[in-house]
Amino acid sequence: MAERSTSRRAASRAGATSAVRQILVLSGPNLDRLGLREPDVYGSTTLEEIHGELGRIAVSRSTRVDCRQTNHEGDLVSWIWEAVDAGFDGILINPGALTHTSYALYDALKGANLPVVEVHLSNPDSREPFRRRSLVAPVCLGRVAGFGARSYTLALQALLDQLDSKAATASAGRG
Ligand code: DQA
Repeated sequence: MAERSTSRRAASRAGATSAVRQILVLSGPNLDRLGLREPDVYGSTTLEEIHGELGRIAVSRSTRVDCRQTNHEGDLVSWIWEAVDAGFDGILINPGALTHTSYALYDALKGANLPVVEVHLSNPDSREPFRRRSLVAPVCLGRVAGFGARSYTLALQALLDQLDSKAATASAGRG
């Protein structure tokens, strides 16, 4: 990611807008088991299939997605900072159970200061009480939850729509 970072930052200093946007897509603990894990709750689509679909949407919208999954909190924190340094444009994150426990993720996302959308396959609000608290929600633009694998695609579309409208506003401002 480091090389891209330099060129994107240079382009941005020169006032140019990069043609291809970059979105980091993060999935946390146990989401590598999608398709096998509690299919009645999380559905039968695998994470690989979800990533493939995100890639197709991204291409149609001049965007590159970098999709990653880990079972370790520290990896998510490091990847968020790498994305910042590399000049990424936004983050889609399904932190899994870390949603409800991780102040480290909250701090990283807050410090990253990028547009973030929180994603969940299930609807955490309709499940056990401990799932009703999201520690990352305060630093997210919004949340898409409860639509299974479609939560990811809807969330990507929402994030890209948001970036498009911000870019349109900025370019109207420049006259
Ligand atoms: C989840 C919801 C979390 O509460 C849970 O711990 C997960 C998956 C979801 O996508 O529905 O691992 O993030």
